[in-house]
Amino acid sequence: MARDARVLVRPLARAGDEPWAVTLLVERWGATQMVTRGRVVDVAALPAFLALVGGAPAGLVSYELAGEACEITSLDSTREGLGVGTALLAAVREAARAAGCTRVWLITTNDNLHALRFYQRRGFVLAALHRNALAESRRLKPSIPAVGQDGIPLRDEIELEWPL
Ligand SMILES: CC(C)(COP(=O)(O)OP(=O)(O)OC[C@H]1O[C@@H](n2cnc3c(N)ncnc32)[C@H](O)[C@@H]1OP(=O)(O)O)[C@@H](O)C(=O)NCCC(=O)NCCS
Repeated sequence: MARDARVLVRPLARAGDEPWAVTLLVERWGATQMVTRGRVVDVAALPAFLALVGGAPAGLVSYELAGEACEITSLDSTREGLGVGTALLAAVREAARAAGCTRVWLITTNDNLHALRFYQRRGFVLAALHRNALAESRRLKPSIPAVGQDGIPLRDEIELEWPL
């Protein structure tokens, strides 16, 4: 399933992997709850894939299947540049195809230039811009900071999609 031979991807095992996954999500995002399109989603309750490098956890992707669409609700790599993120996307793509989805989509924020680069280089296309959506997100999750990566004001949701 993995693109890089050193990267192994498998479904998250609720019992064994969950503490690592929850710690990662809380460290990166302040909580296991994410806000996407004005909706709070507890990604700890969603299906997920775990990436392993050298047998150790190195990344997590969570996703939600809804009819013909599959939303990636979180994607994190703790060993960047080894193919972990790419392998996790491939795993979701397979799961979405198997479930009969026609597209994979996700939300990122206007400050996340690295993610915008990463996704577009892998075939995602910009689908929508939700201006100032973070104002509503902050009402639902007050810990969302005012300023994001590279000192960029955290303001808008950018929707990307990956036709299957
Ligand atoms: C975005 C993110 C998930 C990418 O994860 P990653 O594990 O670094 O992803 P990959 O290793 O597959 O790809 C990253 C780069 O490393 C390169 N790479 C992949 N395998 C490689 C290897 N074996 N050796 C060297 N470089 C490699 C890729 O080519 C890619 O570069 P490119 O975009 O120029 O092609 C990661 O940066 C991250 O966790 N970011 C913070 C959380 C976040 O913003 N998530 C998205 C929110 S929507």
